[in-house]
Formats: sequence, structure tokens, C-alpha cells
Amino acid sequence: MRTVEWCEGTPGAVRMIDQRLLPGEFRLVEYRDYRAVAAAIRDMVVRGAPAIGAAAAFGMALAAQQSRARERERLLQDLREAADVLCAARPTAVNLSWAVQRLLRRAEAEPDPAAIPDALLAEAQALADEDVEINKRLGEHGAALIQDGDTILHHCNTGALATVDYGTALGVIRTAHEQGKRIHVLVDETRPRLQGARLTAWELQQLGIPFTLIADNAAGHFMRTGQVNLVLVGADRVAANGDVANKIGTYKLAVVAQANGIPFYPCVPTSTIDLSLPSGDHIPIEERPAEEITGITVDGQPVVPQGARVANPAFDVTPHRYVTGIITENGIAYPPFTLSLKRMVAG
Ligand code: MRU
Repeated sequence: MRTVEWCEGTPGAVRMIDQRLLPGEFRLVEYRDYRAVAAAIRDMVVRGAPAIGAAAAFGMALAAQQSRARERERLLQDLREAADVLCAARPTAVNLSWAVQRLLRRAEAEPDPAAIPDALLAEAQALADEDVEINKRLGEHGAALIQDGDTILHHCNTGALATVDYGTALGVIRTAHEQGKRIHVLVDETRPRLQGARLTAWELQQLGIPFTLIADNAAGHFMRTGQVNLVLVGADRVAANGDVANKIGTYKLAVVAQANGIPFYPCVPTSTIDLSLPSGDHIPIEERPAEEITGITVDGQPVVPQGARVANPAFDVTPHRYVTGIITENGIAYPPFTLSLKRMVAG
């Protein structure tokens, strides 16, 4: 099944895999209220930039069904309020506001208010379908960079679970595997929420792709000792100059990769590219609850003394000088990114 999908009914619902429970339990949850969808995004029931974009799009379709307004301007007002609530759920991934704005524009283009709910549902479905198709095209472009026998270092989770289906960086890895290339993946566990250990390892197991799970701190060792050919990651927002915001820890990987002559490629749908921001300095960085760090236990014991001050930025920005190229569904952008990213977005 897809990570996020529409569930027919009156009223309809958004159905998603509860990713907080994986890999121990596979549970589907359904939401009939757009505010609950926003909460699910914030609490990371669903996560990964393209997946939260699709969830928010279906959230907008729910908001149109929920509204009691019969008059067009009142309905649009309800939808603008829903858009604000959904966009506030997580700030870094631009796919969220990109999807919400696309749905809002569709509503504004519809003259008949009675037709808006169906129009928004069709638009959300189209956005979700496109995501899968885009990931497969991206996978083809990226897989051309992978040689038989390569070992690829990967951070966080960028697979089917982070998208509607198939994945971005993991989609590239999956395409190379489907092409018959013998590859190996080094999976960063990705502290503090362990998306690598919990989700990427689980997905690779299902796909039969060989992998080794490593502590985040081991990545430099593997790169320095010649055991990595390529680093592939996802991204939550790419600025016009090629600076890349992705899961915390990505910046360190990019610096060490460059120091060891290892290519570093973020893999993104063009909906992740935000040409309105001149550099990564303008990307909002989400700060998540301290409990994500203080809740970690070793041998059953909490590792953090009570009262310790904690900082928990969920993302970091990798300056474009460390980025070899950016893989998209329209091809691979190379420096100078200010030119090549515009071409990718234009298609
Ligand atoms: O906090 P998360 O799990 O939503 O972070 C996910 C990432 O950082 C991914 O690398 C990014 O969203 C791209 S997913 C295709």
C-alpha cells in the first residue's frame, strides 16, 4: 500500500501508516479532520518531505469536505485557515507549503463552490500519483551514477515511507538494484529519532537489498578507509544557490565526503527546490522537543541526567560547495546551481 492515501467514504478519510510504531508494528490510522492530519504531521505519524506534502494535500481535501460554508468566499476562507494550520505543522520541508498552496490555487480557480470538494480531492490524488511517477524518473537518473559493486552511504529515511511510494535517494538505490547492480548500503542509524535504523533498514530488508547498519558516528571511519563510493541523501528544501537542508547530521557527512573525494548527491523532486530563497541561511530549521533526546535509554536506563539543557534541531544546511550534484526527476543539476536548478524546475 501507499504511505499516504485517500480512503473513500462519507466523509472520506486520509489513511496512513503510523511510522512511529515501525518496525515493531504495522498499523494503519485514518483521519477525518484536517486538524488531526496536521497533528499527525507534527507528531511524525507521517514524515519525509514528499509524504507530508501528500498528507497535507489530502488534509486540504478533507477541509473542503468538512466546511459547512455554501458561499464561495466563506469556503475559501475556511480553506485558507486550514492551509495555515497544515503549513504550521513542520516548517523546514517546503513540500508541505508547496502542496497546500497548489490545493488552495485549485480551489480559487473553481467558480462553483459546490464543485470545490471534488476538485480538491482530484487535485490531491493527482499530486500523490505524480509523486510516485516522479520518484521513478528520479531513480532512473540517479541509478546511472551507480556502478556494479558500489557501496552507498545513506542518511535518515528517503524510501517509500518518506514519499507516497518508491522513494527518492532510496528510490535511486532501488532502481540500481532492480537493474541488477550488486550494491551495498551503509545505513546511518540517524539519531535522535532513528529513521535509518527503524525505517530504512526495514525497507531495505523487504526489498532484499544488502545493507549494514552503522552508528552515525561511524560514517567518517567508513569514508576514510575507502569503504564508501557514493553518499546519497534526501532533502527537505534546496535553496536557489544549491544549499541543501536535510536531516540533522547531513552537513557532517558532506564535509567528510568531500575531504575523502567521495561524491555527495542529494536526491529531490523539483517540488523540494525553493527558488524564492537565495541561500540556505533563509531556510527555517525545525527545533523538536527535548524528549526526543532525553528519552533515549541505554541498557534500559535514561542516559541524560534530569534537568540537562538540550538542543534538538531536526535539520541542518549543507552549503552548496560540498554538493557534487542534485538528482531530480528532470535530470541531475551540477554547479553552478543558480543556473542548473532553474533549468530543473522549468522541466
Ligand atoms: O524528520 P523527517 O523524518 O521528516 O526527515 C526526513 C528527511 O530528512 C528526509 O531526508 C527528507 O525529508 C527527504 S525524504 C524523501
